[in-house]
Amino acid sequence: MSKLEDIRTHALSLIEGVSDLLVLDNARTKILGRKSELSLFLRSLKDMPPENQRGVGAAANALRAELEELFEEKRRELSAASYESVLKGERIDVTRPGLKHARGHIHPISRVIKDIVSIFSSMGFEVVEGPEVETEYYNFDALNIPANHPARDMWDTFWLKPESRTHADSISADGRGKLQRESAMEKSQRGSALLLRTHTSPVQVRYMENHNPPLKIIVPGRAYRYEATDASHEFQFFQLEGLVVDRQISIANFKGVIQEFFSRLFKKEIIVRLRPSFFPFVEPGFEVDISCVACAGAGCSICKKSGWLELAGAGMVHQNVFKAAGYTPGEWQGFAFGFGIDRIAMMKYKIPDIRLFHSGDLRFLKQF
Ligand code: PHE
Repeated sequence: MSKLEDIRTHALSLIEGVSDLLVLDNARTKILGRKSELSLFLRSLKDMPPENQRGVGAAANALRAELEELFEEKRRELSAASYESVLKGERIDVTRPGLKHARGHIHPISRVIKDIVSIFSSMGFEVVEGPEVETEYYNFDALNIPANHPARDMWDTFWLKPESRTHADSISADGRGKLQRESAMEKSQRGSALLLRTHTSPVQVRYMENHNPPLKIIVPGRAYRYEATDASHEFQFFQLEGLVVDRQISIANFKGVIQEFFSRLFKKEIIVRLRPSFFPFVEPGFEVDISCVACAGAGCSICKKSGWLELAGAGMVHQNVFKAAGYTPGEWQGFAFGFGIDRIAMMKYKIPDIRLFHSGDLRFLKQF
């Protein structure tokens, strides 16, 4: 009998100490399983003197039933607790304040491009894009700038190494592009080499190759120049190219369109001034100035007391450009212009340093 007492005491303390279902299962096998002390004890009853068998057998079976009940009870207790803890973990407190979503900001350049596109669209211009990695042919030759012509020096150029023709190839191990300057001789040996376009003008020819006049397009896009950076120069910037071609397009048309455009962009009366200038792909060519948006021509620090802001190159499309595009020379005339979009954004939002556009500085970007 004391044997059963021992088994009971041991079992109770085991059950008492169990705190998870897996351990409980193991304890149950140990106490009630086939090889447990109790089972062995019950099996050994048959070897006892028959007069003892009845009483001891009844006691042992009663103990077995009691322990089974205790294990069951403990199991219910533990599973209730674990269910509760899962529920607690999954509970959603609908009264807690929500997580704030970070809101993005439109980049000031994108904002200005959107404004520009909407004004030109309303005047019937189509928006066209072209590749940033351009061939030497479209960037220069087709624009009436032959190899070795000194006018090429007007555009400091990032050349892509001839063997690195894919984008992946052009990124070297240190993460910098394998971009470098080459000698004129190296260039002339390469035929139509690749470069980062120095302006958006190559899209003029690309578009005219596939479209006949009359046409009116603008080309907003990135351009690159190999130059040192300062508050008003970046090696990457945005340009807006414009091209209008028809039988009888004149400089007066250009001046009218451009004056209307700037007045609408800056939401005030703007006066445009054209000064003679040279670009190989126009004849005649000019620089475009607008009356200062800050002082309306009176003279201030923004316009360096001149009353004028220099904003664009422009001119009447050179017949050699029409020829390169496959048009019959002499049949068409048109105007083309190219603005710096960054400069317009700087004026519109009074941004003092062009480098801020690409700085990724949130203190700057969050203002827009
Ligand atoms: N592509 C010229 C530049 O970037 C600007 C320009 C465009 C001049 C169209 C005339 C006509 O300097």
